[in-house]
Amino acid sequence: MLIQFPRFGTRAFYSFLLFVSFLGSRKVIAQSPAELYKPLQQPDRIILNVTADPSKAMAVNWRTNEQISESFAEIALASADPRFINKVKRIKAKSEKLEFEATPTAYYHSVIFDSLTANTKYAYRVGQGEYWSEWIHFNTAGKAGDKLSFIYYGDVQTNIRTLWSRVARDAYAKAPEAVLMMYAGDLVNRANRDVEWGDWFQAGGFIHSMIPGFPSPGNHDHITDKDGKRLMSAFWRPQFTLPENGPEGLEETCYYSDIQGMRFISLNSDQAEESDEFLEKQRLWMEKILKDNPNKWTCVTFHHPIYSPKSTRDNKRMRDTFKPLFDKYKVDLVLQGHDHTYARGMAKIPMEGKGKSGTMYVVSVSGPKMTSSDSDKKPWMDRTALYTQLYHVVTVDKDVLDFKTFTATGELYDAFELIKQKGKINKIVDKIPQNSPERRN
Ligand SMILES: [Fe+2]
Repeated sequence: MLIQFPRFGTRAFYSFLLFVSFLGSRKVIAQSPAELYKPLQQPDRIILNVTADPSKAMAVNWRTNEQISESFAEIALASADPRFINKVKRIKAKSEKLEFEATPTAYYHSVIFDSLTANTKYAYRVGQGEYWSEWIHFNTAGKAGDKLSFIYYGDVQTNIRTLWSRVARDAYAKAPEAVLMMYAGDLVNRANRDVEWGDWFQAGGFIHSMIPGFPSPGNHDHITDKDGKRLMSAFWRPQFTLPENGPEGLEETCYYSDIQGMRFISLNSDQAEESDEFLEKQRLWMEKILKDNPNKWTCVTFHHPIYSPKSTRDNKRMRDTFKPLFDKYKVDLVLQGHDHTYARGMAKIPMEGKGKSGTMYVVSVSGPKMTSSDSDKKPWMDRTALYTQLYHVVTVDKDVLDFKTFTATGELYDAFELIKQKGKINKIVDKIPQNSPERRN
């Protein structure tokens, strides 16, 4: 068939097309972030969350506009036979209306899928009426002793959509079977700005809905109210469903989850730094859950580092309170953020009390906000990096914990193994890649 071109010349025609596309692009550019992230009837911000035992239960949250006060989740055993959708279980969501300052009013919905079978692939979707998400897969956790991998991110915080998204995508490509994605605080820059959370959800996209999140809050995920009291972001509890097994008043920010022989613990270090009451509550709780811990491995995450790479910072309260407990109960891994640089060390970490504990301390950063000039390499640091967006993949197989640090461009930058030894502290085996100079500027 012949295509009929308009009568005016080809050049004029293409100029016309260019003009039309210019108008189109102007329309997109003119859309403010607030408009871009307005809630709709269609569910968005779908996120899977850890429960206290993800081999049996998994939690999911999503958002709709204020017209949708009732929403549902459906779940089935995943199958390559698409008729799996005829065998679904439908669960009515808990729906919470959030009217907050100038943010468009939205409903936040959540469901906890329980009575699940360990080590099994499920498919779920969320929505109502004409508006449903796609079917999304997740795996339940296995049993203690099964090999596991997880992803750890330092601060995300700024330029989230534009520059953190590449980190999340590369991490997912490296570890699609991760049992969780851990955030060591400062997920956003301004806790109560909805558009920053919109960026965070968009940057992670469908990855958030497939691998359960394990977020620990930072100072930027809190605000200070008019009385000087630190408050959690208004969005945190509506948009996440995290274990409520922490101290009273710190629900869903201080919690733990047991997965395949590893106890994962989140502390709320912002409240520990700011409030004597919450420091003491967390100290007592930490001692209890470290003392009564049937898992072979223990990993603790929080925002303010026990040893700061930044010369201008020293979180003495955190160190004096929690370091003796990490030593006493031989915590394996402490994953932190806040200082916008990378550093890790174990061998030269000073010990409180008798003997060595073998705890590895890591500070990292995944977003583009960086610190440089006041971060000299200190004696405790075995490997460091400045001005480098990073993510980490940790794999635990029986007595060996393998820790890998990747750059945003997917190169292996640092690695070590921690090996369990009966009656002794963990042995460290450094595996820093050859021909990989330390990134110091
Ligand atoms: Fe911070």
